[in-house]
Amino acid sequence: MLGTSVNTKKSNEFEPSYGYRETIVASHRVNWQIEDIIGGDKKLDFSKRFMPESLARVEQLNFLNDEEKRVLNQIRGNTYLSIFVIVEEFIVPYVLDHVRPTLSEDDYRAMAFLQFAGEEVKHIQLFKQFANEFKAGFSTECKIIGPSADIGKAILANDPLGVALAILMIEWMTQDHYIDSIKDDVALDPLFKSLLKNHWLEESQHAKLDTRMVETVAATLSPAEIEKGVDAFFEIGGFLDNGLKQQTEFDLESFELATGRKLNEAEKEEFIKVQLQANRWTYIGSGMVHPKFLATMNKLGVDQRKRIDEAAPVFA
Ligand SMILES: [Fe+2]
Ligand SMILES: [Fe+2]
Repeated sequence: MLGTSVNTKKSNEFEPSYGYRETIVASHRVNWQIEDIIGGDKKLDFSKRFMPESLARVEQLNFLNDEEKRVLNQIRGNTYLSIFVIVEEFIVPYVLDHVRPTLSEDDYRAMAFLQFAGEEVKHIQLFKQFANEFKAGFSTECKIIGPSADIGKAILANDPLGVALAILMIEWMTQDHYIDSIKDDVALDPLFKSLLKNHWLEESQHAKLDTRMVETVAATLSPAEIEKGVDAFFEIGGFLDNGLKQQTEFDLESFELATGRKLNEAEKEEFIKVQLQANRWTYIGSGMVHPKFLATMNKLGVDQRKRIDEAAPVFA
């Protein structure tokens, strides 16, 4: 009876946003193979840019010529591949730990999360193959933060709700990254564009499952515990932001090495300022302001959503 279920319902138990069965059906329909995307004659075209300008923000650096802008854009593309290997490597164990204790409760739920984890491992391999292809075709070495295992360990040590929210933010941001690549760039490398597209296709299911994951984790928590989880989300955000600061310095080094151009102090300062903000938007801000991420934050409480709204401009 409806009245009975309403009366016995815990105040923080959420109406599920998405169905597991629908998600697994969609996921089976999309499922692609790495070989469909890269390998053989499917190669990166280094005469083209890789990243959408909304993420790369190379045009703001007026002191660079077109070729230098293209090289920087490609360095940012390589960084994108590596950062996604880093984040997906900690998503896999979190998802498996989440579903493991309750495998027998709902077969569609178990299928959906195991498929999710399997797809993330496939994505890691896809990003690694793109990174190898980049290494083979790019003139010089590019430095990347890491090791990824240490970054993952540090993130997973946080409150489980905080980690689930960080994962949710990451999954939703991939949706906008592909849309950006078709919206504002016609001359991007088709292979890199196909990477963003195929990632988008499968992440669309992951984002829904992550939403359920957050709802499941939060359902057993008091408002004070939810607040603690959101605190942890911000701590993870700060940790990622420090990594991005380091990565921006590395991208500057990689740029100077690849182009042979030494920037003067004022140019370096401008480079770091613009590129750090571009990295913040790419890996934090674009997820934080995603309407679906904000909808979940609203479910956790108006005050928690407000905290996100207040922090978002830092990563814009
Ligand atoms: Fe992925
Ligand atoms: Fe994912």
